[in-house]
Amino acid sequence: MIIHSIKLRFLYLTTALVLFFSVNSAIGQYNALHIPDTLSGTTFNLNMKDSFVQFRTGNQTITAGINGAFWGPTLIMQKGDSVHMNVHNFLNDTTTLHWHGMHLPAVMDGGPHQTIPPGTIWQPYWKVTNNATTFWYHPHLHMKTEEQLIDGLGGFIIIRDAAEAALALPRTYGVDDIPLALTSRSFNASNAFTATSAYGDYEMVNGTLNPEVTLPKQYVRLRILNVEMERGYNLGFSDNRSFYVIGNDGGLLNAPVSVTRVKLMVGERVEILVDLGPDAVGSTVDLMAYNAGFPLGFPGGEPNTTGPFGSLLNNINFKVLHINVGAATAGAITTAPTSLVTNTYWTAADATVTRTLNVTDGTPGTPFYFDHANFNLATINQNVKLNNVEKWTVVNNNIFGHSFHIHDVQFKIISRSSGPVSSYESGWKDTYYLQIGETVSFVAKFDDYADATHPFMYHCHMAPHEDGGLMGQFVVTDAAGVAATEKANTDFTIFPNPANTKIYVTFADPLAQAYYIRITNALGRTMYMLPRPQLAGGIDVSNFARGTYYMQVTDEQTKQTTTKQFVKM
Ligand code: C2O
Ligand code: CU
Repeated sequence: MIIHSIKLRFLYLTTALVLFFSVNSAIGQYNALHIPDTLSGTTFNLNMKDSFVQFRTGNQTITAGINGAFWGPTLIMQKGDSVHMNVHNFLNDTTTLHWHGMHLPAVMDGGPHQTIPPGTIWQPYWKVTNNATTFWYHPHLHMKTEEQLIDGLGGFIIIRDAAEAALALPRTYGVDDIPLALTSRSFNASNAFTATSAYGDYEMVNGTLNPEVTLPKQYVRLRILNVEMERGYNLGFSDNRSFYVIGNDGGLLNAPVSVTRVKLMVGERVEILVDLGPDAVGSTVDLMAYNAGFPLGFPGGEPNTTGPFGSLLNNINFKVLHINVGAATAGAITTAPTSLVTNTYWTAADATVTRTLNVTDGTPGTPFYFDHANFNLATINQNVKLNNVEKWTVVNNNIFGHSFHIHDVQFKIISRSSGPVSSYESGWKDTYYLQIGETVSFVAKFDDYADATHPFMYHCHMAPHEDGGLMGQFVVTDAAGVAATEKANTDFTIFPNPANTKIYVTFADPLAQAYYIRITNALGRTMYMLPRPQLAGGIDVSNFARGTYYMQVTDEQTKQTTTKQFVKM
């Protein structure tokens, strides 16, 4: 008996020690920063699936990832290329995939209207016309965005172009050009992610808790994305060194801007250059969030560590990334350019239309809205004429800060009621910090893509706020989109039928075009979602099981749908 209890006690003791060490290691020991794999070229295969990750001692955490267990590959695109996406939803839930920052047709945008049912392939494509910059992609299913982001769905997009390539900037991915997706998570006792607070307790970069990275002793470029649910970051380095901001959401600035701190809200990106040249090999410096001392209204400035807005990281300065300085690489960048690219920005004088949005409601415990209207998928809130240059003003006479984002365009911030627009956010933007009590105006041109049917979104990028209804939508229309056309339903034939490998579609009216094609099986399960399909090459059905299928074609002009049957042999 005595022996038994001693054994038992020893067991307790070792268990306690193991627990102690694992907790300790979570605080003191770094993990190597994950650098997402890259995909490049013009065809991108993205598989969204549920998965799990061993983040900490004990149970694995249920996650979701794209081509992996958490987060997704970095897509490298060249300006001018036409890119084709094969998005395969292997999740157990409907989702969407939005190309944040990208200028493209609304039907390819991946907003809340372009749903991808489980098991379906969605194939948007577009020509990349944006300048070299850092974008990202993420799910955008209304009221599920927070849940799917927390699971880990998302990834970086890097656009390259000739103007950027001509500059002496670091651009060796994963060596001196590093993507950093900043977020945080909380875990319950069985290590599942929790969403009881808008803020996580543990900082996570590219899906790595407590990360460290070795960077070469030279100029290093960091592409930083805030992919939190709500928290803002006031970024700087632990020795207060200055660094250069070289790019905003939509591209490079005219010239590097020297700073010691940069605020970065949810959805925003910033590209910075930091000089590790003077640092000794073997020395360290930390990228920090200097989030202590902010008043209420700064997201993450709340004083509480628990509760719906509580976090162990609230209102403190905390480490984001531990950097070890390593040897310089061959061909190191050792000087920062004095100028970058020549941007011609819109000014208030260019705008012919003015719109004003007010952030309203949001009394504690209730959602925020624009102008007292909950987001409604069936309501178009704004009609924009193709090629308009417009000034939008967002007024936040309210109780909290927000992160305002608009699809389709890159804009120029022209005024902030809180003071001058910082030079570090003087470039092309698609997302910005709307402080408590602040009014911010920007100017944008809505060109190239008119579509009276599919809207683009504008919203607060804080996922709980956008899911809660702080979102609106606009259509861009040209004259043709307004004129109602009397037209008979689209008639088309599918051949061969029965089919073996590919099916081809011909329209009775040779001028007819498909706006959308959806193929479902006999049970009604969607197989393909094909926005404006390019039909000349046929549609591959070789993976389909034998049986009957239905093709629903939405006509480009009338938006009427016609359904026909075909058989897979
Ligand atoms: Cu980053 Cu409406 O999206
Ligand atoms: Cu908000």
